Amino acid sequence: MNLVPAMQSIAREAGALLMGYFRARVTIEYKGDADLVTVADRKSEACILERIRQQFPMHDVMGEEGTRIESGSDYKWYVDPLDGTTNFAHGFPVFCVSLAVEYRGQRVAAVIYDPTRDELFSAEKGGGAQLNGGPIHVSVTANLGECLVATGFPSHKRHKSPNIYFYHQLTLRTHGVRRAGSAALDLCNVAAGRFDGFWEFNLNPWDTAAGVLIVEEAGGRVTDFSGGPFQIASQETLASNGLVHDALIHEFQQIFAGRGLEELASPVAYAKDRSL
Ligand code: IPD
Ligand code: CA
Ligand code: CA
Repeated sequence: MNLVPAMQSIAREAGALLMGYFRARVTIEYKGDADLVTVADRKSEACILERIRQQFPMHDVMGEEGTRIESGSDYKWYVDPLDGTTNFAHGFPVFCVSLAVEYRGQRVAAVIYDPTRDELFSAEKGGGAQLNGGPIHVSVTANLGECLVATGFPSHKRHKSPNIYFYHQLTLRTHGVRRAGSAALDLCNVAAGRFDGFWEFNLNPWDTAAGVLIVEEAGGRVTDFSGGPFQIASQETLASNGLVHDALIHEFQQIFAGRGLEELASPVAYAKDRSL
């Protein structure tokens, strides 16, 4: 069953709905101390769920805003109705709708729609990855020092995240690290060859399910931080063009072991002598 056309039209409808709220600006609500949610997240999920129920009434669904339909179906949807809520709530135009479908536990179809740029990324297992209907491929950069990479930081349990050390080390070893605020779009940007790599701790299944398939179908590689297979419930997502994957894993091993860490510059020392 080719689900991609139906997923595309659902994602476009939800994306148009998001744009309406984005232009009107929305009130910020909180799920945790810095974990934001808006009416747009909920309305988008409701719209997506209604369309799935109309067209695929037997399918299971897991959505970030609370949808849990678990009937033991062979098909399971992962829905992030608005990835990049913090950006959205502040009027920063980097967000998307992310939809993935698993068949018997295998990711088979994915669609991610960025309504601000009208960019629709899609992939079907074994069929390659597309952007607005044209094929996309990961980059050919083979040297970590020439890479542009991306990461994200969690919005809850932020005090426990060690990612600032990874951010620092990778900033010193690449062309730079971007933190744009939408994990799903970060993965699409790896697939499209705009980023050479992406990593994040503690993402949820709805953040990664679609983007991982799109990266793999674009010729990239996705694993945990040790190079083991990526699992949907994994706390570690490392995606790359494949060519720099082992180099990234090596850097991660060094950082986890505390080896070769560049010291963070001291702001106190800087403040004493502003000419550093
Ligand atoms: C968040 C975004 C962000 C990532 C966070 C996610 P949300 O998803 O993908 O880039 O850093 O970890 O929770 O909450 O905007 O759907
Ligand atoms: Ca998300
Ligand atoms: Ca979300």
